[in-house]
Amino acid sequence: MLTYESGITNRQTNMAKNVIAILNQKGGVGKTTTAINLAAFLTKTGRSVLVVDADPQANTTSGLGLDKNSLDSTLYDVLFSHPEASTTIQKIGRVGLYLLPANANLAGAEVELVNTPARELQLKKVLDQLDFDYILIDCPPSLGLLSVNALSAATDVLIPVQSEYYAMEGLSQLLATIQQVRQALNPNLNILGVVITLYDNRTSLSQQVKTELERHFGDKLFETLIPRNVRLAEAPSFGRTIIEHDKWSKGARAYKALAKELERRLQS
Ligand SMILES: Nc1ncnc2c1ncn2[C@@H]1O[C@H](COP(=O)(O)OP(=O)(O)OP(=O)(O)O)[C@@H](O)[C@H]1O
Ligand SMILES: [Mg+2]
Repeated sequence: MLTYESGITNRQTNMAKNVIAILNQKGGVGKTTTAINLAAFLTKTGRSVLVVDADPQANTTSGLGLDKNSLDSTLYDVLFSHPEASTTIQKIGRVGLYLLPANANLAGAEVELVNTPARELQLKKVLDQLDFDYILIDCPPSLGLLSVNALSAATDVLIPVQSEYYAMEGLSQLLATIQQVRQALNPNLNILGVVITLYDNRTSLSQQVKTELERHFGDKLFETLIPRNVRLAEAPSFGRTIIEHDKWSKGARAYKALAKELERRLQS
């Protein structure tokens, strides 16, 4: 198991074992909720987990209890003025959990990256120097340069899909972007899978969406369903993961199952 110190030591050659971009350009599908709570459960087996907040909305940063308006340094600074990522990474209450935070400054990154050499690879350069068992990147709801940076830095992509009528909308564009990144920048990028979020088994719509996603994605669809659960929605307002907020809730049990299923997939 990696200690905090070894987790943030610069190591030019050692890439983290698993860098997972959590991406869907649709807003409000559960990317941030998944990043925070999946990360929390991945630490349970003694792993070191870094969550990278790559969204200018900085919901992961505030959801993990940090005040996004009083940060000395954020992902934006790491990308553009190159301080050590290790001084920007914050230790979160849960053992093994770390955050590379963001604030609204990151909105400028989409524009500033355009004129940066190797503009798609800036995040990869930062993450390659870190040594965590897992790095989860919470992406913004767009397929702009921040998301392309996340895909270029990642070993895997996890796609949360909300069980609603328009669930499939945009997925072909997302898959096409992943394919372009594979061809141009990151040939080994793996689609780890699609996870259904905000599932309500009382509605036939949720079941229809599940059937449709099974048809399209086959065994890429995670068996674990993340239910709509009010405890998951409340937790970020307390700056807590679901483990600290209500570890017996349906939402907590679902993210625990998702972490297990994800680890199984990565090992197979
Ligand atoms: N399983 C769930 N049950 C209940 N509420 C949820 C669940 N997942 C997410 N939410 C709530 O739905 C809203 C959107 O979730 P979240 O912020 O995780 O989505 P997102 O994809 O990160 O959004 P954005 O695209 O804006 O970054 C939030 O208010 C969140 O608390
Ligand atoms: Mg989000």
